[in-house]
Amino acid sequence: MVRPYKVKGFKRKKREEVYDEDEELKEEAEDDERETAAAEAGAEGEEEEDKRRAEEAVDELPGIPIVPTNAHSGAGVIVILERASLEVAKVGKTYQLLNSDDHVNFLLKHGKDPKNYRPDIAFQAILTILDSRLNKAGRLRALYVKTEKGVLFEIKPYARLPRTFKRFSGLILQLLQKLTVNASGKREKLLRVVKNPVTRYLPLNSRKIGLSHSAERMVKIQDYVNNATNNDVNLVFVVGAMAHGKINTEYTDDFISVSGYPLSAAYCLGMICNALEQKWNIL
Ligand SMILES: C[S@@+](CC[C@H](N)C(=O)[O-])C[C@H]1O[C@@H](n2cnc3c(N)ncnc32)[C@H](O)[C@@H]1O
Repeated sequence: MVRPYKVKGFKRKKREEVYDEDEELKEEAEDDERETAAAEAGAEGEEEEDKRRAEEAVDELPGIPIVPTNAHSGAGVIVILERASLEVAKVGKTYQLLNSDDHVNFLLKHGKDPKNYRPDIAFQAILTILDSRLNKAGRLRALYVKTEKGVLFEIKPYARLPRTFKRFSGLILQLLQKLTVNASGKREKLLRVVKNPVTRYLPLNSRKIGLSHSAERMVKIQDYVNNATNNDVNLVFVVGAMAHGKINTEYTDDFISVSGYPLSAAYCLGMICNALEQKWNIL
C-alpha cells in the first residue's frame, strides 16, 4: 500500500480559500506546540515517531537507483537464490513482509513456525552479491530469487537496493504486490516477477552448480572454479536462502559442498564471489 509521504508528523487543517494571516499564525503556533509536546514526550515518543516516519518512507519508495557497472562481454555468472523466505500477509490493516522478529504472534496464531520466516537471509545474500567486485566488474549477468511459495523474480545486477532491512522489506512488498519495481524516474524495471521455471532464462552454454552443506562432494571453491570451465561457459550458482532444508537440485549439473561447516547463504556467496574474482583477476 503506497501512502503519500508526509514531511511533518501532523495533519494541517485544510487551508481556507481566503488567506487569513491570523489563522495562519495560529496554525503555525499550534504546530509548534504539538512539536514541543512531542519532544517533551521523551525517548519513547521519539522512537515511535521515528518508526512511523520510517514506515511511511518505506511505503513511499518510488523507484530505486542504478549503480554504474562495467559491461563485460566474456563469460559471466548467474546466481539463483532458492526457497527465499519472502511472504506477504495482511497483518492488522496493512500488508507486511513476514519475519520472525515482528510477527511471532501472527505466525503462531496462523499455525506457522516463526523460525521459517527469515527474509533477512535473502536480504544479506542479495547485498553480498550486488556489492561484490565481481558485479562491479560486470561479470554478474543476472540474479534470480525464487520464494518458498514459488514466485520467481529477477533483480538487475546494477540495481541499488536499500541497505536497511526495513526499506528492503518495503521494496519486496512493493514487488510482490505490483510485480515490478522501476528505476527511479525511469521506465526500466529493475526488479520484476517472471514466469517459472528459471531454467528458461539460463544461457545454453552454462554450468549449473547447486550448493549444500549436505552435498557428498566437498570441494575447495578456488580449485573448483579454476577448473570448472573454460572462459566461454557461464557459471550458474544455486544457493538456498532459507533457514532449514535443502535446495531443489533437479536442474543442476553439479552439487557441491564448499566447507565442512554449515554456512550462511551470504558467506557462501562471498566465497564464490571471491574465488571468481581471483580467477578473473578482478582487484
Ligand atoms: C542457511 S543455509 C541452509 C541450511 C541447510 N541446512 C543446508 O545446508 O542446505 C543456506 C544455504 O547456504 C548454502 N550452504 C551453507 N553451508 C554450505 C556448505 N558448507 N557448502 C555449500 N553450501 C552451503 C546452501 O546453499 C544452503 O542452502
